[in-house]
Amino acid sequence: MKKKLIAGNWKMNGGLAANEALLKALRDGMAAIASPCDVAVAVPAPYLAQVQALVAGSGIALAAQDVSAHEQGAYTGEVSAAMLKEFGARYVLVGHSERRQYHGETDAVVAIKAQRALALGVTPIVCVGETLAERDAGETEAVVKRQLAAVIHLNGHCISEIVVAYEPVWAIGTGRTATPAQAQAVHAVLRAQLALASGHAERVHLLYGGSMNAANAAELLAQPDIDGGLVGGASLKAADFLQIMGAAS
Ligand code: G3P
Repeated sequence: MKKKLIAGNWKMNGGLAANEALLKALRDGMAAIASPCDVAVAVPAPYLAQVQALVAGSGIALAAQDVSAHEQGAYTGEVSAAMLKEFGARYVLVGHSERRQYHGETDAVVAIKAQRALALGVTPIVCVGETLAERDAGETEAVVKRQLAAVIHLNGHCISEIVVAYEPVWAIGTGRTATPAQAQAVHAVLRAQLALASGHAERVHLLYGGSMNAANAAELLAQPDIDGGLVGGASLKAADFLQIMGAAS
């Protein structure tokens, strides 16, 4: 039985002093959790070196929030998988809805980003999810399957090495969380899709993201195909993030 994974996505938040305080509180709080789940924090790129040092020996894994689709070269402002590897990143988010929305990241680009990460041994956390309009139109299953299919098509030979995060766009940052039944239904679809591509689909962590918090985490994490969470706002508050970790442990 694999451990659940709770990953915090700090998004464009933090600061040198705030990062130190948050991670000290998390390290102190984790000591009180008997058998903690797997934990990661996805931090803005400028803080990779600082957070790498702050999480050393803590059991908290370092994650990045994006990776270039290119190996190296004239791509101003981008960060390569090799650079993330140098700073000890264990995971990297790819295809977060905010990058699909604000940076026009397509399914094909997300698949290449996942490929770049896998090539360097950095585990991609592939984000999929529908908008409210797509859900209202009954297109949820088609959308998430299309998004995941692009990643499977390019990385089928190592698909059991990815993590998938289902993040309904309408639940991100809104306080409107998918019900456990809604989330489980989509996770079951994703698990079935992965099972067609790999004999080891059960190894893949399927995370739920979208207003997961201390109050709703336990019920979400009790669902059979929800293997953890990708947590935004609540990951910036040590007490809340520790409660979510506790519910996953
Ligand atoms: O990547 C996680 C994020 O999109 C969820 O944000 O604030 O709804 O937990 P939040």
